[in-house]
Amino acid sequence: MLKAACFISGRGSNLRSLIAGAQHYKILAVLSDNPEAKGLEYARSENIPTYAISKTEAGSLAAQKSALYNHAASLKPDIILLAGYMQIVSASFIDQFKDRIINIHPSLLPNFPGLNTHQRAISSGVKEHGCTVHVVIPEVDSGTIIAQAACQVVQEDNVKTLTDRVLELEHKLYPWVVNCIGSGDIKLKSGKISFNQQAKILADKSGFLLPQI
Ligand code: GRF
Repeated sequence: MLKAACFISGRGSNLRSLIAGAQHYKILAVLSDNPEAKGLEYARSENIPTYAISKTEAGSLAAQKSALYNHAASLKPDIILLAGYMQIVSASFIDQFKDRIINIHPSLLPNFPGLNTHQRAISSGVKEHGCTVHVVIPEVDSGTIIAQAACQVVQEDNVKTLTDRVLELEHKLYPWVVNCIGSGDIKLKSGKISFNQQAKILADKSGFLLPQI
């Protein structure tokens, strides 16, 4: 069973779907840079250990990050799942867990890296939007794409309607990807992904997009 540690900063709706959808992985603990994060309460209610430390408690951003990273490393996870974790992950930690930190981003990368993706999608007039699960590298939102889920953007859309539509996709895509990694149907190595026929079939069935490799 793939052992995962999950990092969050806020409400934790992706965390919920990751917990609910776990078949080939187990969430060992939930960590946060924000002790007030709603998702921590949910993790505790599911008897999942939590660890949170604010910048103020830690004394500095660097000390806060080290405390979080040291705690995560002490759990010896196979994979680290970022789910609405708002801090930039330090290069040294990325190196320590090379190809083993993944993130969900609310856009079809490489379109709209960074923040306010839904507003930017509407303003730019794209017809398609969605979400991406990708490998984390030091350049934000730029690592290898593992899988995506897309939806239409319609004329009547506003930020709320589009956010809700994409979030629904996120909640399906993220557990699916982590289960495929746990089952060995998707593999990450040397900054590249590979997947077997089973992953392709399942992705097709669910309407997920796998990169052309
Ligand atoms: C999600 O849209 C995720 O893609 C982005 O931040 C949001 C977090 O939402 N990185 P939640 O905390 O999982 O509800």
